[in-house]
Amino acid sequence: MVRALAVKRAVLLVLVLAGCSGRQTPLDPAGDQSQALASLFELMVWVCGGMYLLVLLFLAASIYRARRRLNALPQGETQDDTALTRGLWLWGGLVSLGLVVLAIASFVTDWALAQADRRADLEVRVTGHQWWWRIEYRDPASGAWIETANELHLPAGRTARVSLGSADVIHSFWVPNVAGKMDLVPGRRNVLSLTPRRAGWFRGQCAEFCGTQHALMAFDVKVESPERFAAWLARQRAPVTSSDPQLARGRQIVTGGACASCHVLRGTAANGRAGPDLTHLGSRRMIAAGTLPMTRDAIQGWILQPRAVKPGTSMPPIALSPEDADAASRYLVSLR
Ligand code: CUA
Repeated sequence: MVRALAVKRAVLLVLVLAGCSGRQTPLDPAGDQSQALASLFELMVWVCGGMYLLVLLFLAASIYRARRRLNALPQGETQDDTALTRGLWLWGGLVSLGLVVLAIASFVTDWALAQADRRADLEVRVTGHQWWWRIEYRDPASGAWIETANELHLPAGRTARVSLGSADVIHSFWVPNVAGKMDLVPGRRNVLSLTPRRAGWFRGQCAEFCGTQHALMAFDVKVESPERFAAWLARQRAPVTSSDPQLARGRQIVTGGACASCHVLRGTAANGRAGPDLTHLGSRRMIAAGTLPMTRDAIQGWILQPRAVKPGTSMPPIALSPEDADAASRYLVSLR
């Protein structure tokens, strides 16, 4: 029993400490906005933790004193206590000071985060759908929008102005390592600034219940050097170019069949708008909004039985022969 409790405690401690680093945690900030929030959080922990400790100390001291005095005083006699009154005034002052410090710190942080909207090196538009993310970048060269989905790339050290909207219900955009969360509300655009500093892969997650597959509405975030980002964006801008004869069957199935009515593959006949842009699908790390790895097997399974993976998804099962499913998945992973 005691041993089980000790093990439970050890596991809890490991879990708590594990929460301090990783690719989806606000406690391991990799951007200006998350750093500001982490510092505010740290200050709150210190102030509130300090007060909590003081409360416990006063409690222990008062119990000790009361015991001693009750034993010393004759029955029925009480004693006025100016020291106690003074102590309470002091304590009241301390609590007020702590609250004022926290209020000012939180106001200053909030204000600084709101100011960040004004300068931006890059414009991004993110639209929430049940249950995936449409992501568009304003091309710095042409001003045109370049579309992709479910994987957000950001240049390190630059500020991206992310305009958030929704196509259906309220979602919430949250990349805890980079910034705080913000809602995606149908009919309006909210703006969030992201200034990542550290290169790497992070994970974003929808943070507002938006239907049965809310938990499977995630996305990858890749922070990379501005040069690499520019090269990536240039690749995303390009239409589908593959003309490999080995992939002809797959290309015909994907761009001429059922897929084309919901998905765009720029440079082909497929121009549906209901689902994610697939022009460079193979370049992404995951499919189905952070749900499955980018492998041929996963793509085949998703095409044939999407509702086995995400019940309620608007993607219908596509009836394909095993050969056709294989050809289609081969073609889709080749789109890099
Ligand atoms: Cu979208 Cu939860």
